[in-house]
Amino acid sequence: MSSAVLITFLVCVGAVYSADDTSGPVFVREPPNRVDFSNTTGAIVECSARGNPPPAIIWVKSDGSLVGDVPGLRQVLANGNLVFPPFRAEDYRQEVHAQVYACLVNNSVGSVYSRDVNVRAVVTQFYDTDVNKEYVIRGNSAILKCQIPSFVADFVSVVSWHTSQKEAFYPGAPDGTLIRTYCFSSGPTILSN
Ligand SMILES: *[C@@H]1O[C@H](CO)[C@@H](O)[C@H](O)[C@H]1NC(C)=O
Ligand SMILES: *[C@@H]1O[C@H](CO)[C@@H](O)[C@H](O)[C@H]1NC(C)=O
Repeated sequence: MSSAVLITFLVCVGAVYSADDTSGPVFVREPPNRVDFSNTTGAIVECSARGNPPPAIIWVKSDGSLVGDVPGLRQVLANGNLVFPPFRAEDYRQEVHAQVYACLVNNSVGSVYSRDVNVRAVVTQFYDTDVNKEYVIRGNSAILKCQIPSFVADFVSVVSWHTSQKEAFYPGAPDGTLIRTYCFSSGPTILSN
């Protein structure tokens, strides 16, 4: 008799507990605000969330429309990740590769939108850097600027300066007196969290 009472009590507690246990979705991994990538690397944009019941993970565009697969160019995985595979230059599509996305997570309790995810793909292409001559009076300072073509300027950064005598200068190194300087830059840079 007493064990039957105990079992009834446990069942009641269990039912109350599970009713209280539902919770709205919370991001475990919210996607970054910017995703820049090159056509040779592609990109994976991660989005995951927890909640009870486990939330659905849906990708939407800024106009609210649902994001689906575009064969070879964009794939929405079951785990919530948005995948942009490497693509050939001629397959570039602005509505896929230069687009504002958001990750929407929802369950029966509620829904949450991620921040805007600005996706931007670039097609790898040759570029060169240059330095203009600067004339300066002995004892004074000169500022040399690394000339980077505008079509890659957003995606590369200057990593070092080099002289014709094979001296190398890196950010944070002590100032040197440079005669004939070359600059090198690296890229494309892929930004993600
Ligand atoms: C990316 O574009 C460059 C330039 O057109 C091309 O040489 C390269 O093969 C492309 N990458 C892929 C994976 O198709
Ligand atoms: C989540 O949002 C999608 C898209 O708006 C909707 O179709 C779906 O019914 C929602 N799911 C829940 C559990 O509310």
